[in-house]
Amino acid sequence: MMNKKDIDWDNLGFYAHETKSMFKAIYTAEEKWQVEGLIPYGDVSMSPASTILNYGQGIFEGTKAYRTSKDRVVGFRIEENAARFASSSERLCIPQLPEGLFLNAVQEVVKDNSDFLPTQDQGSLYIRPLAYGDGPMLGVKASNNYTFLVYATPVGSYFKSGLKMLDTILTDKYHRIATKSIGFAKAVGNYAGTLLPYKEITMDGFDEVIFLNSSDENIIDEARSANVFVLKGNVLKTPALQGSILPGITRDSTIKVARELFDLEVYEEDVTVEDLLNGDEVFFTGTAAVVAPAGSINYKNNKVQFETDYNASMTKKIRDKLIDIQYENIEDPFGWVVPLK
Ligand code: COI
Repeated sequence: MMNKKDIDWDNLGFYAHETKSMFKAIYTAEEKWQVEGLIPYGDVSMSPASTILNYGQGIFEGTKAYRTSKDRVVGFRIEENAARFASSSERLCIPQLPEGLFLNAVQEVVKDNSDFLPTQDQGSLYIRPLAYGDGPMLGVKASNNYTFLVYATPVGSYFKSGLKMLDTILTDKYHRIATKSIGFAKAVGNYAGTLLPYKEITMDGFDEVIFLNSSDENIIDEARSANVFVLKGNVLKTPALQGSILPGITRDSTIKVARELFDLEVYEEDVTVEDLLNGDEVFFTGTAAVVAPAGSINYKNNKVQFETDYNASMTKKIRDKLIDIQYENIEDPFGWVVPLK
């Protein structure tokens, strides 16, 4: 186990630090899901012919535990992660976990790794549940064997420079995912295709890339690892969940906070390239990203610079409200916060 003292707690960033333990369950066709429980954090082994290594049959989740102002350890809408994990499992032909196992596993990992829980100023404990096919299957078919793992690691800000206004690219060179494929699931393969676009845009000095919808290039899809919102006046828009969009939990929370606490008109519908380029504010949402503002968007070598002062922006208001709920700085009007121990 990594020593707590080896971690730079004031500059956590978004990295995988070794922690104490992780939770494991395994599935075989004969025995179904069998719980092994907490095991030391460490490497995993599997068949070289496993479906995760050969064909990407794997899914994951991301959620966070927070040390709050009330000196409690809480999670945020974790049942939503459990539900999305079930829906991703179905799409990737991974056997469903028994009722309650996901939530129990998250609870146990947080409790056993509570030494690694940052303070509010430092960040949060990021929790990563995974399920993948690890039995041999040379043909392109679902595995007979699976592993469910949950590990956790302390994190700070997802974007390298903290809360910078992101310089972004709307790319017409790559798509993220086909519209009727696995975009709505949290499938590992959805992220692999974004690595090269990201490498290319960072070499040009950009921070984030937004993709166009692969069936209709007049509308946008999402970013690498976050949903996209566009504010114009009192109207907030984000792409509808039409198949290629990940049903983000921060996305859904943003919609509710914007509608109910800030009286915005919120629409889940097609967001056109024109909407995006003419917005007053554009921001990204995700568990890792939280709510991150765009400072500019580049499209076909034209740059749109957002003029709004971040400190006076609606983006900041929404971000601060979500963070205040998560860290129990204010009463949670939605019942989203769940005590973890
Ligand atoms: C998250 O926001 O938690 C995600 O899972 C996105 C990720 C790929 C960093």
